[in-house]
Amino acid sequence: MKEHVYKPLTGKRILFGVGGGIAAFKAAEYVRELVKLGGDVKVILTENGEQFVGPLTFSALSNNKCETRLFDEKNHSPILHIELSRWADCLVVLPATANIIAKAAVGIADDFLSTVLLSFNGPRLFFPSMNPNMFSHPATQKNIKALRDMGYKVIEPQVGKVVCGEEGKGRLVGFETFLFHVMKTLWPKGLKRKEILITAGPTREPVDPIRFISNRSSGKMGISLARASALRGGKVELILGPTKVEPPPFLSVKRVETASQMADEVLSLSPKMDIIIMAAAVADYTPINVFKNKIKKGDEEISLLLKKTTDILFEIGKNKRPGQIVVGFCAETENLIENCFKKLEKKGLDLIVANNVTEEGSGFDYDTNKVYLIDSEENVEELPLLSKDEVSERILDRIEKMMEV
Ligand code: CTP
Repeated sequence: MKEHVYKPLTGKRILFGVGGGIAAFKAAEYVRELVKLGGDVKVILTENGEQFVGPLTFSALSNNKCETRLFDEKNHSPILHIELSRWADCLVVLPATANIIAKAAVGIADDFLSTVLLSFNGPRLFFPSMNPNMFSHPATQKNIKALRDMGYKVIEPQVGKVVCGEEGKGRLVGFETFLFHVMKTLWPKGLKRKEILITAGPTREPVDPIRFISNRSSGKMGISLARASALRGGKVELILGPTKVEPPPFLSVKRVETASQMADEVLSLSPKMDIIIMAAAVADYTPINVFKNKIKKGDEEISLLLKKTTDILFEIGKNKRPGQIVVGFCAETENLIENCFKKLEKKGLDLIVANNVTEEGSGFDYDTNKVYLIDSEENVEELPLLSKDEVSERILDRIEKMMEV
């Protein structure tokens, strides 16, 4: 099967300042990942940073010359710091050490990175990483506040064990969180302040204490949509069924197990939402009786009586406010488009995302999806096989267009 590589950072220019901390080795990894995602990355390495990782490593990983000295006769331009400042869309400092934070807070410009921090006037993001005592020191906290007051973004480090063996707040955030903040800085804010409810994953309907009825949904599509909505500035609530796929730590997530719990959560939140996207694969039927004890092997045949669950989407559609946008998903193995037309009408939807789960690379558990977007006027848009993140972007583009009219 053809590989589908989504490069969301294509055309984005990122200046990456590396301070003198042990997490400089992580900076090398993060630079490589940004480049893999299509980003154009140029690294500025401080003299202290060079003690941890050499400039050659960053030049090789970024495919661009790594800058180290402000006054270097080998620099092609005497005003290289100004040229880089004009070039960049955003400036990242990682690891942001106590020293570089302090210098930036008072405007000291005694090396390449600290000078660029003054000459660049776009978004600046600091990712601190240091010993917990250094991070919590009043001087560092005062400096971080000063940076935030100037409009710089300082992302709180994680709590945990740091390299020096101590426990506390000072660990560099993981790549997923780092990437989210970089992308959020660069992304258009088409869903700013919109309240968005997204469901994802399967539900589990208990049969007895150890057995349940469920389905193959992994939650990947809904989680991807939640992340993409947050990138566009939305205030996202994710209601997630039982799934092994971990949602990113920066999302607000409510975990549920059964269709009935999902209905309770969704229907209590839905009235105040601007956009509702039901990507979850909710069970249509649930056992009438849940056995108190494990069902023992006995007769050749046994039957299980099931009753219908609440059709959550139908309830939402019925009570839809003017201006509210409701999106459903439709998984079919046959007659995809006709069934979707019926569901659109029956459930009062604005958009349905349809996929034929029998197609290769599409539907449950894959990282890719092949879908059709069908609106209430029965316009059918066929998308090619795309990564789920790219499908999310296309769905949100459509939602934003619907909000314009
Ligand atoms: N859905 C829901 N509540 C349910 C079942 C499904 O809100 N109890 C939502 C799903 O989240 C999805 C949409 O309805 O967005 C379509 O689900 P699907 O299972 O394809 O359709 P159904 O209406 O359940 O019909 P059928 O199973 O007959 O295809």
